[in-house]
Amino acid sequence: MMRIGSLHLATNLALAPLAGYTNLPFRLVLRGLGSLGLATTDLVNARSLLERRDKAFKLIETHPSDTPLAVQLFGSVPEEMRDAAKLLETWGVAAVDINMGCPVRKVCQVGGGSAMLVDLKKTASLVKGMVEAVKIPVTAKMRLGWDADNITAPELAQALEDAGVSAITIHGRTREQGFGGTVNLAGIRAVVQAVRAIPVIGNGDITTPQAAKQMLDETDCAGLSIGRGAFYNPWIFNHIREYLATGGVPPEPSFEERIALMSRHLELMVEVFGESQGCRMFRKVAPWYARRFGPNKEFTRQVVRLSSRAEYDEIMAHYLEWRSQFLDENGCLKPNFQPGPLATSFSPLAAPVPKGLPTPGGPSEYW
Ligand SMILES: Cc1cc2nc3c(=O)[nH]c(=O)nc-3n(C[C@H](O)[C@H](O)[C@H](O)COP(=O)(O)O)c2cc1C
Repeated sequence: MMRIGSLHLATNLALAPLAGYTNLPFRLVLRGLGSLGLATTDLVNARSLLERRDKAFKLIETHPSDTPLAVQLFGSVPEEMRDAAKLLETWGVAAVDINMGCPVRKVCQVGGGSAMLVDLKKTASLVKGMVEAVKIPVTAKMRLGWDADNITAPELAQALEDAGVSAITIHGRTREQGFGGTVNLAGIRAVVQAVRAIPVIGNGDITTPQAAKQMLDETDCAGLSIGRGAFYNPWIFNHIREYLATGGVPPEPSFEERIALMSRHLELMVEVFGESQGCRMFRKVAPWYARRFGPNKEFTRQVVRLSSRAEYDEIMAHYLEWRSQFLDENGCLKPNFQPGPLATSFSPLAAPVPKGLPTPGGPSEYW
């Protein structure tokens, strides 16, 4: 249970926005598995929403069971951000999240100092304009800062709380880190300590229930936001909840459960985007599921060219036959073919991740 402004969430577990992935089909797949307190759309350009662009509409497409839903906006023109938030409110969205990208980027380029405060003020004023225009909660998502020498998130969080945001999600890395290096739990904790009353939601590399607990324990954050961990284990929200309640780690979902879920995901992609586009979009989704299948070369090679529903069935039939060579007499993967434990950069118990968790490509300057 977590409260974000007037919004009461059933759990304190949120789905992080993953541009290109956190569309309606993926959200429905995850919601169907339970314990997801809040989902957020991919980032949406405020101007393109105001201009009623098809692409923006598709990004915010939803369904009565896709609730509560936050839409993430990005943009730097205060009037556009305000008007986009108002539109979203009239359409019944539960909350508006602001993609802060790295608000100090320009400042870093011109040398920081007082310029940084000017920028903070500008950001706070943009946010205030949005907060005053709508009744639904306005939240913000940010990184720790530009680099290790410019950790600005605590100060920004304070300014945003003063401007009226209802929650802050903090990815515990700097912009310079990209997706590499370690998630800095002390950095997240500094943001928690900087705000007065609003919930701070920790984010970054939560791939296991143990990592979730460690982040909660070491940062005191009110909630968790999970992105790539939901690719690896779509059941992660439920697993975290169970682990926090009982201390027991639920077993990994079986191969058959994963296949059934992946097939359901494809069905929804076809329903929402049509067969041709849905299959094309699924080409980059399926390999994420496959990472936990054990040997998957034969599947991945074919699925990245998927163009129809019927073809999916053929690929699957072929894959199941090919995969049988790696099974023992009970139909389980032989031990040396089983996928390894999931990595988390900040956990001493996890396998080291020298290059960080795999990250799909995209316009990462915004994340
Ligand atoms: C493919 C991809 C797309 C992302 N898109 C967004 C986005 O649209 N908005 C955003 O604020 N963050 C975005 N992020 C960042 C994630 O929300 C999250 O902060 C980051 O992946 C760390 O969390 P994780 O380790 O749980 O994935 C994206 C990350 C990835 C890998």
